[in-house]
Amino acid sequence: MPRPILATIHIEALRHNLARMRSAAPDARVWAVVKANAYGHGIERVYEALRGADGFALLDLQEAERVRALGWRGPILLLEGAFEPRDLELCSRLSLWHTVHCDEQIDWLAAHKTQVPHRVFLKLNSGMNRLGFTPQRFRAAWARLDALPQVQEISFMTHFSDADGARGIAHQVRAFDEATRDLPGERSLSNSAAALRHAGDAHARGDWIRPGIAVYGSAPDFPQHDIAHWGLQPTMTLASRILAVQQLQPGDTVGYGSSFVAEEPMRIGVIACGYADGYPRHCGTGTPVLVDGVRTRLVGRVSMDMSAVDLAPVPQAGFGTPVTLWGRADNGTVLAIDEIAASAGTLGYELMCALAPRVPVVVD
Ligand SMILES: Cc1ncc(COP(=O)(O)O)c(C=O)c1O
Repeated sequence: MPRPILATIHIEALRHNLARMRSAAPDARVWAVVKANAYGHGIERVYEALRGADGFALLDLQEAERVRALGWRGPILLLEGAFEPRDLELCSRLSLWHTVHCDEQIDWLAAHKTQVPHRVFLKLNSGMNRLGFTPQRFRAAWARLDALPQVQEISFMTHFSDADGARGIAHQVRAFDEATRDLPGERSLSNSAAALRHAGDAHARGDWIRPGIAVYGSAPDFPQHDIAHWGLQPTMTLASRILAVQQLQPGDTVGYGSSFVAEEPMRIGVIACGYADGYPRHCGTGTPVLVDGVRTRLVGRVSMDMSAVDLAPVPQAGFGTPVTLWGRADNGTVLAIDEIAASAGTLGYELMCALAPRVPVVVD
């Protein structure tokens, strides 16, 4: 009998979220961002649902090979480009489009022997200060690339640092517009937050949007907005069952460190899910959990393989009752991954990417 924990990937929800992102930028094409193994969902599992995208964007060359192996003949963009010169051979062989963000990558291209010239996305550092040429150095980089016989077409991209917050994107859009003014080529700027929160900004949309997190059913600007606000659906459910029930008396404690002390008689359920499954240890008492589709709370510390929940709102619950840690319960109740992430002081991104290899995954 396997341990009763299971992650389910919801294909229809992925399809729905992709369509939702397309509707946010109807005149743009959509890169489905599938880096980090499709944000922990598994590239092979999401492929069928996301093949309606115009292209796949990722970082890892092995992930690009996996997308090609699935039969995808359309565009694939390497978001960080080549990491070493020989990566360009794979770009040639698999027809990968690649980002160019530094002089070294241009040097490698200049030395690269290829029959088929490459399509590249020249990246502007418009303020994030992670990757890309500064506005001062951008034109020179473009001129170098433009002169290379190895380069067939140059497009332009940048990445926003504050699309989900108060600072917004206007300053970076302005820097991008100035740096790329009069240069021919397609443009790509928006991640999920920009595409949703700045949907009216045609400059920010450009020719290609690059949504990741919203496709995976997490609101990019939670708690300001939740997935219901953005019309997104959970794409991953983490579910378990109750392994044991304990009847507590006032003064009884729960778990390591006795961090939870019962103030009155109460029933708790012990569930088969802990931090070795990818459930964050930083989730404390009060973190929402669904038991039999009813919202209740975590009590005490999360341990490696188990956690405890308050059964007061679910008197019918007992041994074997299903528990939803995040996602969708059988009765349709949704517990957004963003709520759990917020309880742990992190983001939905981290939780979905951290689903542990020991958790079995099915697709529905
Ligand atoms: C360059 C780039 N574009 C697009 C994305 C997708 O961003 P999000 O998942 O916030 O939509 C990322 C993710 O971090 C990224 O690094």
